Amino acid sequence: MNNEQNKKYLIETWGCQMNEEDSEKLSGMLKSQGYVRTEVKEEASIIIFNTCCVRENAELKVYGNLGALKSLKQKKPELIIAVCGCMMQQEGMAENIIKKYPFVDIIFGTHNAYKFPEYLNRVKQEGKSIIEIINKEEGIVEGIPIDRESSIKAFVTIMYGCNNFCTYCIVPYVRGRERSRGPEDIEKEIKELVSKGYKEITLLGQNVNSYGKGLDDNMNFARLLRRINNIEGLERIRFMTSHPKDLSQEVIDAIAECSKVCDHIHLPVQSGSSNILKKMNRQYDRNQYLQLVKKIKEAIPDVAITTDIIVGFPGETEEDFEETLSLVKEVEYDSAFTFIYSKRKGTPADDMIEQIDDKVKHERFNRLVEAINEISAKKNKRYAGRIVDVLVEGTSKNNTDKLMGRTTTGKLVNFKGDESSIGHISKVKITEAFSFSLNGEQL
Ligand code: SAH
Ligand code: SF4
Ligand code: F3S
Repeated sequence: MNNEQNKKYLIETWGCQMNEEDSEKLSGMLKSQGYVRTEVKEEASIIIFNTCCVRENAELKVYGNLGALKSLKQKKPELIIAVCGCMMQQEGMAENIIKKYPFVDIIFGTHNAYKFPEYLNRVKQEGKSIIEIINKEEGIVEGIPIDRESSIKAFVTIMYGCNNFCTYCIVPYVRGRERSRGPEDIEKEIKELVSKGYKEITLLGQNVNSYGKGLDDNMNFARLLRRINNIEGLERIRFMTSHPKDLSQEVIDAIAECSKVCDHIHLPVQSGSSNILKKMNRQYDRNQYLQLVKKIKEAIPDVAITTDIIVGFPGETEEDFEETLSLVKEVEYDSAFTFIYSKRKGTPADDMIEQIDDKVKHERFNRLVEAINEISAKKNKRYAGRIVDVLVEGTSKNNTDKLMGRTTTGKLVNFKGDESSIGHISKVKITEAFSFSLNGEQL
């Protein structure tokens, strides 16, 4: 079977929602050219790896998976292999990849994914590898078709890039400076989604609170939330990520007052020690963070707060780490993503001399995870017996006799119910609470 007949593609995506959304666009562009998606590598005529480099193990996965494609390409020389995403934006990485894996056909970065169909045609015609990485972000390209994973909830990017330069983080280097999409474009996209039956949208950006900077019409995140809240037919609005330094009272009030905005804030703290926060260039200290949490809890009584935490940042002492543990207990996070600090080339923390021993990092990581699991379980226990609104997303992963969905606070609920409620908000009585999910019965 030659390429023209076999129009199947496979996309593997690593990393955050930004990459997931980019993959949905790559998929959208391919589908609009008559390609169909497959999850089986052996069936595909195009394989795309959309990569992440936020931590070393994200990169290791890409290397491992690329190595495994070698024999496939030998068996099937017409197979086209493309590698893109954040990892490719690092200096020298594209050249490094093509040297190690010469069978790769196309390499592109985060700023030119919209050109993929063009690269594909060129490779088919010329048969030569293409490497194109653009280092400077261009304007925002609108109107790219998106093939979304779900038909109920969708990601909508409101801003690209990051200006914060936390000293451990590579994202600003690979995603470029902050650019906000115009509110009209965002509104238009959401209205189209609603007309197709979508019920929930998640507004995406590395730091959604600084949305609107550089736009003419006096826009900011709070005003955007209020504007989207007015869209008829939309049921739920989520957003991520909020940087604590920019979460203003105006945004807290908008979340509290807008009925569609969910009662959940993902508010990465990274560390509970002011000393470490300063070295991380987070631009807030422990006390300011705790004050912010207090304000949020006052304004939104049943709110769920989740976070990201890094252990083993250079110079982190046992006392610093214990401050993280005590902050976790004080805030009572509903859940947390925990990471072991990973050195990233080109970031300021990579050059810091007091790197922490791997054994110490792992030991702290385990203590932190244990503390968080205990709190998550305790917080979830409070749901037992309650009646909650669940947006029903489909059948449950582990038990297809059951349905699954989420509460406004983002809790996963598995429950017995009627399949006709998929895509709608339904009342569910919580019967059992675990650390990571709830069980219930539809009313
Ligand atoms: N823009 C978001 C998150 C971006 S990356 C924010 O600012 O919150 C997601 C998470 O990865 C970060 O919150 C951080 O906890 C973690 N992370 C980033 N760089 C890392 C590194 N070098 N080592 C370990 N964890 C890291
Ligand atoms: Fe990275 Fe900090 Fe930007 Fe988040 S805010 S993407 S952690 S630099
Ligand atoms: Fe990874 Fe890029 Fe996201 S580095 S975490 S995919 S912005």
